[in-house]
Amino acid sequence: MTDLKTPAIVVNFKAYREVDGEGSLKLAKICESVSKDSGVTIAVCPPMVELGTVARAVDIPVFSQNADPHAPGSSTGWITASMIKSTGAIGTLINHSEHRFENNVISESVELAKADDLITMVCAESVKKAVSVSAYHPDFIAIEPPELIGGDISVTTANPLIIEDTVNSVKSVNKKISVLCGAGVKTGEDVAKAIELGSSGVLLASGVVKSKDPKATLYDLIKHI
Ligand code: G3P
Repeated sequence: MTDLKTPAIVVNFKAYREVDGEGSLKLAKICESVSKDSGVTIAVCPPMVELGTVARAVDIPVFSQNADPHAPGSSTGWITASMIKSTGAIGTLINHSEHRFENNVISESVELAKADDLITMVCAESVKKAVSVSAYHPDFIAIEPPELIGGDISVTTANPLIIEDTVNSVKSVNKKISVLCGAGVKTGEDVAKAIELGSSGVLLASGVVKSKDPKATLYDLIKHI
């Protein structure tokens, strides 16, 4: 199992037009250059169609945005853990708020991802969900209040308690699970607050992907790490 060194900035590229085609590789290279220059872990989650291209081109952690609960075999259009592993990616998000699963599916996806030696990063929209998915012992849980996703108010400002409560509740189930937080995270101050509240880093998207200067944004995000 390859590890994700923390604290980490995990950049979810989502499906923004900025990451269509060459855009994913261009942004991943920017993330790589800032990470190499600063020594801060920056991981990227490109769209599935660019996953292999990006994973083969950069020397920073690359994650899939999803892994479906399907083993290799006769199934069509699904994303298997085995496919993700074969691209060179080291892990996968599961149950992002914009790609939600029922708990039984989350459990199956985590199990299949672990079997293919992928790092599992399960997203949760509430403390209650975070506690319930802790039972599947993912490597990471990312708490993201859906109403703050894509907005300009960081979860660290709007709802710091959800971060503290998630860290304490998840650690009470399994101390080995690391907690990230996300939604509206845009600045180095937001990242510093997230870490102060017990997070092992942040999961973010629009602040970097839609930035006019992603490199400058990334340097601001890591300035207090
Ligand atoms: O996966 C991270 C994402 O949901 C947060 O989005 O745009 O608020 O950073 P954003």
